[in-house]
Amino acid sequence: MHPRLHQAQFLIAAGRADQFPEGGLEVAFAGRSNVGKSSAINALLNRNKLARTSNTPGRTQQIIFYALGDEERRLVDLPGYGYAKVPHAVKEQWGRLIETYLLDRESLAGLVLIMDARRPMQEFDQQMLEWADHFDLPLLVLLTKADKLKANEARRTRDFVKAELASRFPDMKAQLFSATKGTGVPEARDQLVEWLRLAETEKSDGQ
Ligand code: GTP
Ligand code: MG
Repeated sequence: MHPRLHQAQFLIAAGRADQFPEGGLEVAFAGRSNVGKSSAINALLNRNKLARTSNTPGRTQQIIFYALGDEERRLVDLPGYGYAKVPHAVKEQWGRLIETYLLDRESLAGLVLIMDARRPMQEFDQQMLEWADHFDLPLLVLLTKADKLKANEARRTRDFVKAELASRFPDMKAQLFSATKGTGVPEARDQLVEWLRLAETEKSDGQ
């Protein structure tokens, strides 16, 4: 079935692994705190306020699942990594939740790693790349807030990240993105749809 990006709905905000939806397929969005994950989801779904965004880092504290037309296809907004002001115990709990999700999620068809185009390839980003590579998970880097860079700076950043990926993780892709200007939205949408379709084909082949 075709994933319906234009019919997205909030499904569940999960604070525990036993609340994760069962079965189906999904694409998850990861990235450092305040980088623009929720805004990217809204832009891709063409919805202003579906995913809650904020100037305050650490807005998304649970794992939020959105259904695409039906509950079998989903986008997943992961809590941001590295928000310093959160108490240690809370941070540990988030960490465990995300880890549980990433390590044991059969539904996961692809990972979108959001980086700030002005500060790409930070330590957390590198960890996520290694992790996705280790588990053979398809990964797309969105270099977001590209609207904050001059066109030539944005291109230089994109080429740098692409070159890094090509030398270390040749199957991964990167593109510029802006939630506010809509840059890169159609291309990223195509990738999500392709992943969900591919994963579905693989699933039915395996049955
Ligand atoms: P957490 O859930 O706290 O980890 O944050 P997040 O990664 O979901 O970020 P969010 O989407 O809430 O955006 C954080 C801030 O960045 C907000 O003030 C957004 O308006 C802003 N922002 C997000 N994307 C863009 C973009 O493409 N361009 C610009 N200029 N601002 C953006
Ligand atoms: Mg968020």
